[in-house]
Amino acid sequence: MIGFGINQLQGMIPPSLYNLTSLIVLSFSDNNISGDLPKDIGLKLPNLEIFQIPGNKFTGTIPFSFSNCSNLAELSLGENSVIGKISINFSQMSNMRVLMLFGNNLGSSDDLRFIDSMINCSKLETLIVGSNKLRGVLPISIGNLTSQITLLSFENNFIYGTFPSGIGNLVMLEQFFLRLNQLTGRIPSELGNLQNLKRLYLGYNKFTGNFPYIIGNLSLLDSLSLSYNRLEGQIPQSIGNCRRLASLYLSGNKLTGPIPKEIFQLSFLTTDLNLSHNHLVGPLPQEIGKLKSLASLDLSQNRIFGPIPNAIGSCTSLEYLDMNTNSFQGPIPPTMSALRGIRDLDLSSNNLSGQIPRFLEQLNLSSLNLSFNNLEGEVPMSGIFKNASAFSIIGNSRLCGGLPELGLPKCAMLERSKEGSHVSRVIVGIILVCSILVIAILFSLLFCWKRRKTQTLPTQTLPTQSSSIQSFSRVTYGSILKATNGFSEQNLIGSGNFSKVYKSILEPDGAIIAIKVLNLENQGALKSFVVECEALKNIRHRNLVKIITSCSSVDFQGNDFKALIYEFMPNGNLEKWLHPSLSQETEKQEDAPQRLSLHKRVTIATNVAHAIHYLHQECEVPILHCDLKPSNILLDSAMVAHIGDFGLAKFLPLKPHQSSSIGIRGTTGYAAPEYGVGNEMTKEGDIYSFGILLLEMITGRRPTDSIFHEGLNLHGFVKMALPDRVMEITEPTLLLTHEELIEDKNGRNLKRLEEGVISLARIGLACSMESPRQRMNTSNMIHELHRINEIVHSKKG
Ligand SMILES: *[C@@H]1O[C@H](CO)[C@@H](O)[C@H](O)[C@H]1NC(C)=O
Ligand SMILES: *[C@@H]1O[C@H](CO)[C@@H](O)[C@H](O)[C@H]1NC(C)=O
Ligand SMILES: *[C@@H]1O[C@H](CO)[C@@H](O)[C@H](O)[C@H]1NC(C)=O
Ligand SMILES: *[C@@H]1O[C@H](CO)[C@@H](O)[C@H](O)[C@H]1NC(C)=O
Ligand SMILES: *[C@@H]1O[C@H](CO)[C@@H](O)[C@H](O)[C@H]1NC(C)=O
Ligand SMILES: *[C@@H]1O[C@H](CO)[C@@H](O)[C@H](O)[C@H]1NC(C)=O
Ligand SMILES: *[C@@H]1O[C@H](CO)[C@@H](O)[C@H](O)[C@H]1NC(C)=O
Repeated sequence: MIGFGINQLQGMIPPSLYNLTSLIVLSFSDNNISGDLPKDIGLKLPNLEIFQIPGNKFTGTIPFSFSNCSNLAELSLGENSVIGKISINFSQMSNMRVLMLFGNNLGSSDDLRFIDSMINCSKLETLIVGSNKLRGVLPISIGNLTSQITLLSFENNFIYGTFPSGIGNLVMLEQFFLRLNQLTGRIPSELGNLQNLKRLYLGYNKFTGNFPYIIGNLSLLDSLSLSYNRLEGQIPQSIGNCRRLASLYLSGNKLTGPIPKEIFQLSFLTTDLNLSHNHLVGPLPQEIGKLKSLASLDLSQNRIFGPIPNAIGSCTSLEYLDMNTNSFQGPIPPTMSALRGIRDLDLSSNNLSGQIPRFLEQLNLSSLNLSFNNLEGEVPMSGIFKNASAFSIIGNSRLCGGLPELGLPKCAMLERSKEGSHVSRVIVGIILVCSILVIAILFSLLFCWKRRKTQTLPTQTLPTQSSSIQSFSRVTYGSILKATNGFSEQNLIGSGNFSKVYKSILEPDGAIIAIKVLNLENQGALKSFVVECEALKNIRHRNLVKIITSCSSVDFQGNDFKALIYEFMPNGNLEKWLHPSLSQETEKQEDAPQRLSLHKRVTIATNVAHAIHYLHQECEVPILHCDLKPSNILLDSAMVAHIGDFGLAKFLPLKPHQSSSIGIRGTTGYAAPEYGVGNEMTKEGDIYSFGILLLEMITGRRPTDSIFHEGLNLHGFVKMALPDRVMEITEPTLLLTHEELIEDKNGRNLKRLEEGVISLARIGLACSMESPRQRMNTSNMIHELHRINEIVHSKKG
């Protein structure tokens, strides 16, 4: 066995090596080795089982004599410069599992006939010949390959002809790549048999006929590309059955009809939805707002008309939005100000009217195209509008002002002609602003008054009845008893010192909820109940758990009974995702993908950062959470993170007895070091916990991991590894899988991953500095996280 993988070996393989006739494994992956493979290699090394030389500079043809290596299980020649025909005869190789020849210059004519000899390779799992110059048709023998095969890639070659029949036999196929060829004809309905397909890439061919209806039968599909073919007809509603779809590429066809609403119900659709360059018609439905986790949406070059729905503002994960060249009309909706992560926005060539909204100045845009619409009024001057090359507004005849280089008329001159209406508009404006101010003042007075009142009351009488939370306002002990099946173990989804949490269905309308029942025998429980009610009833943010109501009652024995009722988070807490082994007994995540990608982790971190920013900076009365840790980060069905458990929360400024109280100070490992020496709770304390959380998300190690002792802590552990050894401390499931490494032809994804992890680690370190004053602030945290999102967000299309 010889292995020299991942070194910088140069030159040629010494001929004497081929004299080692009993060699079984030969691996020279990722070096700089050149030269031809000897013609008689298979005769000299007849016992070879594994031969790996991907990522070198080998030249010449593939020796036919490999046909004599009857034990061969893996032949990996990817990413070299070998040429010619694949002439090996595989018929003796009953152990063949992996054949990888991608990224060479293979090709002459009728190049896929070698597959005929593989029909007895009953263990074949992976066959990758993509990115070569292979010519010819897909042989019918593909359908006779073992049904065990899971990955087939022919992409980026010169393959023509139609789909061979029999493809439906390969029922274990998970990944099928045919894009970038010249295939014609219809996409056969046999593909509907391939129930295990996760990734199907047929884009950039010349397929014709209607949109393949069988796509709806592929319920595990995670990524689908049919782009740039010649498909016609409507997108079927059954696309909604592909519930796991994370990216959907249908651009560049001749698809007609409306966009089916079912697409918007796909809650896993997080990466890309590209329907551009088709003939889709009709208004864009309000349901678009359900795509809360989608990062990139492209509807450009269709025939969509009507207003841009207000609900677009709910797509808060959008980073890229292109709606150019449609017939959208009406104003740019104000709700779009909620798209805080948007980087590129193109609304050009529509029929949009009204003014350019000022919120566009606040968004962190890097490009904006509003050309060829009917916009009017003043062009703003700050934010994106400061840089004339970053935005385009040409073809709107009634705009004024803006940067001088735009050459637009000054606004005052235009306005004078309609001064009358202008003046009245100003007056209305002033009245509006004043009344809003008055209302705001009234509200804040009311709020202060209420808080003062509650603070002076003894805590027991505090909660609930006065609470502004209504929808289920009258929840009794009896109904909770019933909803939890008498507090049955089966409904139990979590328990802590102060409480137990049950999942249940509340009778009147069958809503799924989480009920936290306080264990009032524990001294702190009542206090935590009061604090949590108080904290949550005044705040609303999409990254905080929503409390539906609370229940203060007595049980049937006459004991006090207190419970809090929240919206249910189907994906549990982050703790279970980061440390899955510990939660095997509650396997309630079968519906969720098991691997938490870096992209998802960054998104979760961003959600949490937004919530902290809101608590610290945007609430009327700043709130400290004081117990941030993975088990308090809850994930909804779209994997959006919500901070929960406000049982230890504090309002700022702290009351005297709070700042000196020794009480409970969060959780060991996550609580800031200064809390240990009796300092008062501060915003920086929450930042510290957040920093530790980030480092845990990268390394998969808890701050209390047994390797941390004798002065080494999680912060130091990560700091020492940065930047060169970062991949060594990165949690293994974050690294690329075997298949992804294969796909990653020029290592770009790996580099992006590494860069993303390093940047994320830097934030984690900056937030968990020993000295509170050195820790990062929330605005910078958010800014940096959005930047990482950009690095990490892969656009493989
Ligand atoms: C390899 O074997 C051949 C004959 O079998 C012999 O002539 C040659 O010298 C050997 N090469 C080395 C480097 O041992
Ligand atoms: C090698 O294989 C070919 C055909 O597959 C066969 O004709 C030849 O006899 C084999 N040679 C040896 C040395 O096994
Ligand atoms: C496959 O195996 C069958 C039965 O052993 C044999 O008849 C056939 O020739 C083999 N085909 C190939 C291409 O190896
Ligand atoms: C290949 O499969 C088809 C059915 O899909 C069958 O008719 C044919 O005989 C098979 N060929 C071989 C060589 O097994
Ligand atoms: C696809 O699903 C429909 C019903 O959902 C079923 O009638 C049909 O037979 C399926 N087709 C295939 C090829 O599995
Ligand atoms: C803006 O959109 C128009 C029309 O869609 C297009 O012609 C122009 O190239 C775009 N400008 C930029 C800078 O992308
Ligand atoms: C653009 O919208 C205006 C109303 O806002 C309408 O009168 C006009 O017909 C629309 N133009 C096109 C080309 O749709």
